[in-house]
Amino acid sequence: MKKLLTATTLCLSALCSMASLAAEGDVGVAAAMDDRYCSTCHGVEGIGNIAIEAPRLAGIEAWYLKRQLENFRAGIRGTHGEDTQGIAMRPMAAKLSDESIADIVAWVGDWEYVPAKVTVEGNVNQGRTAFQTCAACHGVNAQGNEALGAPALAGQNDWYLLAQLRNFRADFRGSHREDTYGSQMVTMSKTLRDDQAVINVVSYINTLQ
Ligand code: HEC
Ligand code: HEC
Repeated sequence: MKKLLTATTLCLSALCSMASLAAEGDVGVAAAMDDRYCSTCHGVEGIGNIAIEAPRLAGIEAWYLKRQLENFRAGIRGTHGEDTQGIAMRPMAAKLSDESIADIVAWVGDWEYVPAKVTVEGNVNQGRTAFQTCAACHGVNAQGNEALGAPALAGQNDWYLLAQLRNFRADFRGSHREDTYGSQMVTMSKTLRDDQAVINVVSYINTLQ
């Protein structure tokens, strides 16, 4: 009886409001979980789907995933008329709340990384030379650099890296005036002389872990 009374008294104060806060939080999480439809396109466990050119999400850095979802949502990415795949992705992010994005980032962070298949083969030696420029931002092992906002490239589907480099070079990605990170990459992509140079650098990235 004494215990019950104590509980009631407590419930009138701080603990009780904490409990109701937690309950509200649960509702938010449930709503956020409804937005976990990503694997329909990105594949089971987020390994990527070449048929619809949806890249691997498993292994993606949390900060980079968050930024891309926010950029798609804001129309900073995926709005150029020729960016077919970006246009397919944008509506998937358009209705996400900050809460959903946080939930998705945590969820994707739990996925196991399975090595990507090699589909792009070019001149690895020439690619290595070209990659020296890229390493300044993406790291010598293409492991990514959060401070510079440059994501990991190693481990991503090579066909996706190829498509993105082609998109940056053609100004289909990174040309929105608010896309500060993307615009840096537009400049860098143009240091690659031609499409063969793009294929070579991706072939070299394939050799990195
Ligand atoms: C209708 C298919 C489809 C669905 C569903 C979908 N995506 Fe995508 N997503 C794509 C395509 C296609 C691309 C490639 C865009 C490009 O080439 O720029 C993409 C690109 C991305 C990228 C960019 C990755 C990078 O390395 O830059 C992220 C992040 C992403 N999707 C996250 C998600 C998340 C999270 C969800 C679930 C909320 C989701 N996607 C649902 C098709 C889809
Ligand atoms: C000045 C720094 C810098 C340099 C040098 C650089 N990048 Fe990037 N790169 C970035 C940033 C920042 C992003 C992220 C863009 C965004 O947020 O949309 C990026 C994105 C990319 C992407 C898209 C990855 C994805 O998951 O969508 C590819 C591919 C890429 N870089 C390849 C290269 C290659 C190859 C080189 C060398 C020729 C290179 N980068 C040089 C800064 C750089």
